[in-house]
Amino acid sequence: MHTVSLIIHGAAQVVTCASPNGAKRGAALADVGIVPDGAVAIDGERILAVGSSADILRDYHAEHTLDAAGKVVCPGFVDAHTHIVYGGHRLNEFEMRIGGVSYMDIMAAGGGIASTMRATRAAPFEVLLQEAGERLEEMVRLGTTTIEIKSGYGLDTATELKMLAVIEALQRQSPADIVPTFLGAHAIPPEYAGRADEYTALVIEEMLSAAGAWYRGSVFATSGRPLHADVFCEKNAFTTDQTRRILQAAREQGMAVKAHVDEFTALGGLTAALECGALSVDHLDVTAGAEITALAKSAAVGVVLPAVNFNLGSTHYANARAFIEAGAAVALATDLNPGSAPCPSMPLVMAMACRYQRLLPAEALNAATLNAAYALGMGADIGSLEAGKQADLLVLDMNDYRQLMYQFGGNPVRHVLKRGRIIL
Ligand code: NIG
Ligand code: FE
Repeated sequence: MHTVSLIIHGAAQVVTCASPNGAKRGAALADVGIVPDGAVAIDGERILAVGSSADILRDYHAEHTLDAAGKVVCPGFVDAHTHIVYGGHRLNEFEMRIGGVSYMDIMAAGGGIASTMRATRAAPFEVLLQEAGERLEEMVRLGTTTIEIKSGYGLDTATELKMLAVIEALQRQSPADIVPTFLGAHAIPPEYAGRADEYTALVIEEMLSAAGAWYRGSVFATSGRPLHADVFCEKNAFTTDQTRRILQAAREQGMAVKAHVDEFTALGGLTAALECGALSVDHLDVTAGAEITALAKSAAVGVVLPAVNFNLGSTHYANARAFIEAGAAVALATDLNPGSAPCPSMPLVMAMACRYQRLLPAEALNAATLNAAYALGMGADIGSLEAGKQADLLVLDMNDYRQLMYQFGGNPVRHVLKRGRIIL
């Protein structure tokens, strides 16, 4: 009999999110692949087999076992869009928005991203690391086992590099897998006001190569995963043309690309990002018509971020149902950031997606795991419980996975396993 390092057995449900054909689209998104009275055999960092407890306990002998009786076992959550490294907070803007001032008006008046930029430039490396480290630990407690983290609050080369160095330091201290993203094109910094093309040139000619050089000497290069590059395509941020130029230059440097598009204004950023081979297009709050079809026909994943709409007090959410009906691959992420979404919780994001975007619980879970993994180019390795994949999984305090979305506001995560090791 084959001896493995760990068997988790007796689970009321093992929810696999397994998919033979890449990211889930259409009807496949509503299938989470439930194994009742299920078990998972793990050898080292990888899953060896998933099946009924009877089969797994018959076929494998384990050095350690974990009894998951009455619990749900599911893949670790993949948070494919976050900005967890930043200085300061935006509590004053929170109160302004409660008073009726809009996010875009605050940004136009020099607050918003620019206010966090000032705090991030002023913050010592150690403070940024300490605060982001606390956020990351909370996210892991909430079940996130892989997380994308963006730069983008420096907006000058030195501070963008400081943020990237913080992201690398987080990877050295956290069991979570981190995907680093260079977002020098997050806003036009005040010193370039009225000179957006000059700032775009700085991003292309100086920052991208500095970020590339940083990446080549970082732990991320050793892992073989590429550096990602992102642009905020929006009114008062970057135009479609600037977005295209930046993403093309990033591609030429070997980076994976993606973009914030259609958050407030439909500028055609989705089309531009797809032309540049984007892995994902994110936000999609005002995406309509031909661009929905274009997304559905592409390999890119549409990442929707309902915590942003909720936080901004909006009743308008990205039309995830229309994307799914059209055949697009949809994923969910928190967008954790100090302005538009101070939310660390993937379970809460799934709860919102079910209520405001009318995703079924199964669709929300696939969107927060398998499809999110594809949004990061990691779908072959993580995001589902399948033989050969990394053993990133959760034991949840419930006997039906739909409780994960039905309840909200608490934390049902009992255990977190990363690469086969119990980290919580
Ligand atoms: O994804 N939209 C641009 N970037 C962030 C917000 C950043 C901020 O407000 O600090 C987002 O929503
Ligand atoms: Fe964002």
